[in-house]
Amino acid sequence: MTRPFSALDSNIDQALLNSLRPEARNAPTSGIIDIVNYAREKEGLVPLWVGEGSLPTPDFICEAAHQSLKAGETFYTWQRGLPELRQAIADYHQALYGRTFDSEHFIVTGSGMQAIQIAVRLVAGAGDEIVIPTPAWPNMAAATGLTGARFVEVPQYFSHDGWKLSIDDLLAACTDKTKAIFLNSPCNPTGWTASLDDLQQVLDFARARGLWIIADEIYTRFFYEERQGGNGELGPTAPSFYEICKEDDRILFVNSFSKNWAMTGWRIGWISAPTALGDVLENLVQYSTSGVAAFMQRAAIAALKEGEPFVAEQVERARAGRKTVLDALAKVPGAKFAPPSGAFYLFWGLEKHEDGGALAREIVDQANVGLAPGFAFGQSGTPFMRLCFATNPENLALAATRLQGWMAQR
Ligand SMILES: Cc1ncc(COP(=O)(O)O)c(C=O)c1O
Repeated sequence: MTRPFSALDSNIDQALLNSLRPEARNAPTSGIIDIVNYAREKEGLVPLWVGEGSLPTPDFICEAAHQSLKAGETFYTWQRGLPELRQAIADYHQALYGRTFDSEHFIVTGSGMQAIQIAVRLVAGAGDEIVIPTPAWPNMAAATGLTGARFVEVPQYFSHDGWKLSIDDLLAACTDKTKAIFLNSPCNPTGWTASLDDLQQVLDFARARGLWIIADEIYTRFFYEERQGGNGELGPTAPSFYEICKEDDRILFVNSFSKNWAMTGWRIGWISAPTALGDVLENLVQYSTSGVAAFMQRAAIAALKEGEPFVAEQVERARAGRKTVLDALAKVPGAKFAPPSGAFYLFWGLEKHEDGGALAREIVDQANVGLAPGFAFGQSGTPFMRLCFATNPENLALAATRLQGWMAQR
């Protein structure tokens, strides 16, 4: 008799799993998704656990997608991305950094995540290492593990005036197996942001050792400190490798439409690389998604060309959200946190508590606020929790009141 699909037989299931590549079988479940699954349906919960705001994608972006579909753009399209979109991305970079960019540097991908996956696969495989400062968004390490390469964590450390990373530690972690340094600045989840000096040190080292840098600067617009120079006409950005690198430096920039333009559900991003890599990148796109749907690319063009007022609104919302949560936690006795320089998360804990995962569960159960457990971001994140402050002000104020009430009764 055939076995019904629903029947569970642990021996058969185990045999099926055992026949898979260990790298795939052992890919870790995201600790963020774990807690979301635990409490997704909880009534009245304020969800601050994932990295997105509450504003839907603006109409003018949706409308561009709609028009494209109505015009019949439903066929296979350019693997590297529509030429108009690649040019719009180049123009956007020019406006951000005040230097000219050739559109040949930019390849459209089916999300920032896919850009990361491609970047990692370009440079590392079994036996290689990628060095990653942690706490870090977990997908970078997981993407590294899937290729068979090993990721090497370099811990950032908490201090009351901000999270810190020792660049000496970072460089010292590179061995002769290291193929790349993965630097996410501003950092999800800590908000740590590299100074231009930090970036220069990493770049000098990478040049001297022939290493690649995978630069994830997707939160560059969400930067809360004053800074002089380095910026183009679009206003303040976090310090960037684009301010110091040459065109043929071994840097793979991964980027996304998700955060700036409230397009997390669309799944579109880009990678930028030395132009010599164009054909190779095109092949990796071809053998994964074979390109991003044309209607999404039309939407992305609209986002870049008309989206600046919306980006400014998003940044202001995050700035206000940051103030709300910093003010609220200042009133919570024992709260351990530092103002983040960039991105839109507060990575915080409680003095004398080493288990942020248990705290996050307790907060879900007792305060009805959803936070991501710090262990999801690497070992050094274990005592902390991540709170996303990009959401609407009413929800943030409610979460702040609930957290204060929960702590008062604890
Ligand atoms: C640091 C970082 N890089 C990349 C991404 C990927 O963004 P997406 O796949 O939504 O484009 C995220 C998403 O949260 C992120 O936080």
